[in-house]
Amino acid sequence: MTGLPPKPAARADRVSLWAHLRLFRRDILSAQPQRLYRAWMAEFRTPFFRSYLCNDPALVRLVLDERPQDFPKSGRVTEGLRPLLGRSVFVTNGAEWQRQRRIIDPAFEGGRLREAFPAIWAAAEAAVARMRPGVVEVELAASHAAADVIFRTLFSIPIEDRVAQAVFQEFRAYQRSAPIVNLAAFLPLPRWFPRPHRRATLRSARVIRGLITGLTAARAAEIAAGRAPDDLATKIMTTPDPLTGVPFATAEMVDQVAIFFLAGHETSASALGWALYLLATHPEAQERVAAEAAGIRPEFATLGTLRFTRDVFREALRLYPPVPMLVREAARAEAFRGRAVPAGAQVVISPWHLHRHERLWHNPDGFDPDRWAGEARDTAREGYLPFSRGPRVCPGAGFAMLEGTLLLAQLVRAFRFEALPERVPVPVAHLTVRARDGIWLHVRPRQDGP
Ligand code: HEM
Repeated sequence: MTGLPPKPAARADRVSLWAHLRLFRRDILSAQPQRLYRAWMAEFRTPFFRSYLCNDPALVRLVLDERPQDFPKSGRVTEGLRPLLGRSVFVTNGAEWQRQRRIIDPAFEGGRLREAFPAIWAAAEAAVARMRPGVVEVELAASHAAADVIFRTLFSIPIEDRVAQAVFQEFRAYQRSAPIVNLAAFLPLPRWFPRPHRRATLRSARVIRGLITGLTAARAAEIAAGRAPDDLATKIMTTPDPLTGVPFATAEMVDQVAIFFLAGHETSASALGWALYLLATHPEAQERVAAEAAGIRPEFATLGTLRFTRDVFREALRLYPPVPMLVREAARAEAFRGRAVPAGAQVVISPWHLHRHERLWHNPDGFDPDRWAGEARDTAREGYLPFSRGPRVCPGAGFAMLEGTLLLAQLVRAFRFEALPERVPVPVAHLTVRARDGIWLHVRPRQDGP
């Protein structure tokens, strides 16, 4: 199959507020005008608030790297997620957030990745064993695999475990009922405008938190008895804050586990689904991945042999960044590119637009994993932030790159993925960038597979 990977149609440059609202309700991505793929900055004025989308690399650096304390996470986004995430590291700001990162970050350091490798390898093998030849919705398969990775690495249990299975199913229900919560962050409505959580969303959040509380309390007991497995949960629960010497209380840990599940499995699943689609539509690239994957072994060093596979995953993250927009708030008045930005304004950094920006990328909408192999890689860095940047960068970035590369290699080693011309996926932004009706591919076992 040839042609560019699917991109949502942009809206006209000028539309009325009500038309804008309707578009937002349908999908955040197609509600955006075409000019954002060329502009360095765009201002949206609504009767209730102002919003600034920043593509200028200097502004991105200012907001994320240089003065992040002046651009805290916007309450518009975090309000919507609070029933599920409580006061997790994803939604907090200031001193509370700093303390949480001091405890969490050591669990994701380089050495720990090596220790997580066997569990990720086992999850990848299980994903291969679960895959059935025929027409398959690979987003669901990817969600299953990514949830399995999280359960195995965090709590040393596979997805088949009864509680793991229940959390996974309930997260799916949460996602189906929650998109409006996510959209609320972008709707041009005043802050006081009621945005009630749907009853189903609240119920799902309660069920998920109940299940996670059970897992966390059981782990606290195992730690106390000196027989806890050496996994991410144990590491985080036994790490004291280096400044105060105090570790997370069990209740606080529930908030953190909830975000690890949400941030860790939704995003990885989205990226893996799109990576498989891109390989299905680019068979020559798929054969290169298969050739590289033929020699992998269950040891950490094998990752060094998966350079092209890693670049495919990188390119999938560029074209379909699972987190399409990062929303912040200006804590005080600012001047962006000579324009006054009032305190309280919404500041949006959009990986979606930056990754396809016509002035930052050669062939911005094309699938070209080789762009990551040469010198172009350095020039590309300015406009590439699938994991965000600066102090609030995704702590799971290294973990996710390892997981994505390995899952892709194992799946492509065992199966050939073929696109169905009548089922071209349409990207839409839910909690992450997903395909509107799933990603359907024809899956065939490779003759020369294991
Ligand atoms: C392909 C996979 C992933 C992508 C694309 C991704 C992307 C991101 C992005 C863009 C942010 C910043 C959001 C913002 O500032 O608004 C973030 C934050 C976060 N991610 Fe990831 N992530 C991935 C996988 C993971 C994994 C595997 C974990 C953990 C197991 C994880 C845990 C977190 C946490 C805890 C935060 C909050 C950090 C903070 O606010 O200080 N992520 N992620």
